[in-house]
Amino acid sequence: LAATTAVKPRPFAEALTRTQNLIATRVDAVLVGEDTLSDAMRYALTGGKGLRGFLVLESARLHGVDEDVALDAALAIECIHAYSLVHDDLPCMDDDDLRRGMPTVHRQWDEGLAVLAGDALQTLAFELLSDAKFGSGALGLIRMLAQAAGKDGMVSGQMLDVAAETSPEPLTLQQITRLQSRKTGCLISWSAMAGAVISGADTTPLRHYADALGLAFQIADDILDVEGDAETVGKRVRKDAEAGKATFVSLLGLDAAKARAVELCDQACAALDVYGDHGETLRDAARFVISRDS
Ligand code: IPE
Ligand code: IPE
Ligand code: MG
Ligand code: MG
Ligand code: MG
Repeated sequence: LAATTAVKPRPFAEALTRTQNLIATRVDAVLVGEDTLSDAMRYALTGGKGLRGFLVLESARLHGVDEDVALDAALAIECIHAYSLVHDDLPCMDDDDLRRGMPTVHRQWDEGLAVLAGDALQTLAFELLSDAKFGSGALGLIRMLAQAAGKDGMVSGQMLDVAAETSPEPLTLQQITRLQSRKTGCLISWSAMAGAVISGADTTPLRHYADALGLAFQIADDILDVEGDAETVGKRVRKDAEAGKATFVSLLGLDAAKARAVELCDQACAALDVYGDHGETLRDAARFVISRDS
């Protein structure tokens, strides 16, 4: 994938690392408990790319939102994402032992604690967003996150994903698109739109950007499952085919899936035309998403 698009890895990598550090510092300030539940929550928030948090901070910057305010929205979405991964890895879901190069939460502790740490990460996200610092944007932000994460969003996508494993017929392209836009796209969309929502600006360009980005992101995840190695990716690979997962790769094959990811990346970049040069970091994020190796 990397060869097909112009990547500017260095400045983007630095910006992403800066976000990861900001979020990690905020985690330490917010989650101060010395109990096992807090340990497991901190553990689950460690070691990710922080892409969703990055999208929040970048969309906030585009709309003149204070970084201190945006940071709690970035942490909120990373909490929801971390919770979704902790539950996704459970034996009753994907049954994975490795996440971000570390044992999954239920392997490090036990299944009960993994369920509870996920639950508590989810409610922490909403607690963070209910702070007065979000002003009149808070209610919209909270409502949209509940929708993005819930029964018509991420959870519904996970449901479709699990159902597809035992479906007698392979899913159509349209069904896979619907599944993936819910499973992965909804949280990414919320992240990219957050800055516009907080500032009361039009969310349309960022929604179009994120619709394409979310699909490109999940196609890249599916490609990594086929082409990546566990050491670099930080999680078990070759598991989708083994589990009979419905992915763009299983339906289209690797080459067509890669071509689709590049197309979606171009679409995402074009959606940012209204932002001119100010949208360049988000365009870099889209290029990163399809060229990443983890
Ligand atoms: C992995 O997401 C799960 C999917 C939605 C495909 P990421 O690749 O963003 O995971 P981390 O947060 O960097 O570990
Ligand atoms: C997970 O999708 C998506 C969510 C947790 C919402 P996958 O099952 O493909 O993610 P990985 O490959 O385990 O990271
Ligand atoms: Mg899964
Ligand atoms: Mg999984
Ligand atoms: Mg996957």
